[in-house]
Amino acid sequence: GVDALTRAESLIALTPDYPEPGVLFRDVSPLLADGPALRAVIEELIRPFEGTYDIVAGIEARGFLLAGYAAALGGVGMLQIRKAGKLPRPAAAVSYELEYGTATIEAPGVLREGERVLLLDDVLATGGTLAAAQSLVTELGAVVAGSAVVLELTDLGGRAVVGDVHTVFTA
Ligand code: PRP
Ligand code: HPA
Repeated sequence: GVDALTRAESLIALTPDYPEPGVLFRDVSPLLADGPALRAVIEELIRPFEGTYDIVAGIEARGFLLAGYAAALGGVGMLQIRKAGKLPRPAAAVSYELEYGTATIEAPGVLREGERVLLLDDVLATGGTLAAAQSLVTELGAVVAGSAVVLELTDLGGRAVVGDVHTVFTA
């Protein structure tokens, strides 16, 4: 309900100077630890997409937790989108720009041609990670049914990079 969602937002902890000086990190750990708040957030995260997806994808690491819950609620399976080097047989890889240097994400070859994938993550910042995940799904021959995040950091302009994204909270 609305009360649980309001409380959920207050459970996102503001953490100064993490992972480096000058960054105000939004930590969803307390939200994840609260049962009613977590349930309300997951329900709102997937609400617009009912009936439009076949599988949920979680982006490592916190996206895994969201995807696990969403998959159990919806009775669908999960796709792991992992940092490079963690999967035994990656079927596709996409590299993207970080503030300094590049990163790569990979996924296993478990999707059917045209399978509709709902992408989930905790935070949308610059959008690099989610945009790369969208490309990865396409590269695997599947279709992005939608993208949803718990918290969008609007100042970082990620929405322009990822296109349409459903957000539960904005900051
Ligand atoms: C965070 C967050 C998103 C990404 C958002 O992950 O969970 O995946 O960064 O940033 P972007 O929009 O600028 O790409 P993080 O790098 O902290 O990885 P972790 O979940 O493995 O800790
Ligand atoms: N929280 C979690 N993930 C993030 C953040 C944040 O504040 N900024 C970039 N990725």
